[in-house]
Amino acid sequence: MISVVAHPNIALTKYWGKRAGEGNVPAVPSLSVTLAGLSTRTRASFREGAGEDTFRLQGLPAEGDALRRAVAMFDRVRAASGRTGAFEVESHNDFPTASGLASSASGFAALALATTRAVGLDWSQARVADLARRSSASAARSVFGGYVTLEGEHAEHIASAEHLPLVVLVCVTSEGPKDVPSTGGMLRTQEKSPLFAHWLDHAPTLHARAVKALRDRDFAVLGRTTEESTLLMHATALAAGILYWNEATKRIVTSVSALQERGAPCFFTIDAGPHVKVFTRPEAADALERNLAAVPGVLRVLRASIGEGARVVAS
Ligand code: PMV
Repeated sequence: MISVVAHPNIALTKYWGKRAGEGNVPAVPSLSVTLAGLSTRTRASFREGAGEDTFRLQGLPAEGDALRRAVAMFDRVRAASGRTGAFEVESHNDFPTASGLASSASGFAALALATTRAVGLDWSQARVADLARRSSASAARSVFGGYVTLEGEHAEHIASAEHLPLVVLVCVTSEGPKDVPSTGGMLRTQEKSPLFAHWLDHAPTLHARAVKALRDRDFAVLGRTTEESTLLMHATALAAGILYWNEATKRIVTSVSALQERGAPCFFTIDAGPHVKVFTRPEAADALERNLAAVPGVLRVLRASIGEGARVVAS
């Protein structure tokens, strides 16, 4: 029995769109931070011989898309190990699934590490990330801690949390599941958005600027570039008829601009849903959290700092 822990991550420069062909390879590079304080815990064992895989999520048997995607990973791990047998896996998120935090990132990072170890494959982080990416590209980033890049097939840790400590305040603005899941949203954007060619052209420039700003510890440029990447991703999706924002999303974006004008060190990003993640410096987090919690439509604010990559905690 292998037990692992992994955390969600949030992109500063966004991945949106896939390269043609196999492997679920992102069309653009991305930069993320892996979070601390919100965890997926996954336990996996492997039994040689015949038998069905079992996969329990939040204490219940997984079904539908979640089960299908997990079994696709189990099949890859069986093929890589050359072993026949069945997995028994249990996975639990200690953060609300409708929190707007990509549970697929921490979930598949944990699953990739737990299942490879359960069959005796002692893979490098890079190989585990390659396996995780095939299920959910952002999951490749959660294999690593701190600041992480994903460029094509290659995920890499590029800076530690101490290099530029940040706090993220997740402003939850709806309880329901998102309208258009990320893969469907991306494929429709690629097919229908007249802005997609521009996104492909410009995203690498934004990414390079963000990576440089991070290396320079330039909070202001990192923040502006993150917001630009977010807005261009959402504009590109909008031009294909996909709108992830709700009323509260707009209000938070407006509030963040007003807070910036008053000198608060903060910037926002938004993923494939209506929640807004606001980054700030640790010393400014308390005051900012109070401000954001008071914005009409914000249901609650979750707080996280930067954390470690996926790891085995018991075997
Ligand atoms: O890896 P997926 O399918 O969960 O897609 C992630 C897409 C965004 O969260 C919107 C951007 C990103 O880079 O995480």
